[in-house]
Amino acid sequence: MKNIIVLVSGGGTNLQALIDAQERGEIQNGKITCVISSNPEAYALTRAEHHGIKTQVLSRKNYQNNQIYTQDLLKLLEAEQADLIVLAGFMIILDKALIQAYENKIINVHPSLIPSFCGDGFYGLHVHEKALEKGVKLTGATVHFVNEICDGGAIILQKAVEIQNGDTPEILQKRVMEQAEWKILPQAVSLFCQDRLTVIGSHAYIDYKGE
Ligand code: GAR
Repeated sequence: MKNIIVLVSGGGTNLQALIDAQERGEIQNGKITCVISSNPEAYALTRAEHHGIKTQVLSRKNYQNNQIYTQDLLKLLEAEQADLIVLAGFMIILDKALIQAYENKIINVHPSLIPSFCGDGFYGLHVHEKALEKGVKLTGATVHFVNEICDGGAIILQKAVEIQNGDTPEILQKRVMEQAEWKILPQAVSLFCQDRLTVIGSHAYIDYKGE
């Protein structure tokens, strides 16, 4: 059974999707053993507590920069014996020391079809504002491994979502979460925990086991 550590900063609806999937028995060979928040006020912490999941707060406000923050985060992850680290609305760019220590063991959910609307400065609602500004007809979500390039790691799963007339960033964000993020994140976590993901070069391959 793999120890899944979920890193959060905000509302935690993706964490909730993982908890719900776990409670439905859909996360095979893995268990959420700890939720770590960079923000002491994050509602994600309450969600974890409601389901009896251990929480830790490592407040970003107490650190001068991401590099020093990541050093303490790394210690915490080692103490928690993390097998898989899931960034579920975690709004801090991790320093390379952590990424190297957990190569191909960190996954992130991003609210667009990478390589569109991603990279530095593209996070949360802002991603949807940019998609609407551009006038694309399709957007979606991506789950990918984390490497040293922001939103640049091997893509595990993607799901497209249609943009509709009259969409606001908030309406679009909700649709992308409901139709894409909350589905593909638990799927990717379960595939990882079953050792069904292989990374070769910049690509991630899924073992479909005859599915
Ligand atoms: C989600 O839409 C997630 O994809 C996005 O922030 C939101 C967090 O919501 N993450 C990023 O933009 C990372 N680049 P949540 O706290 O309700 O899961």
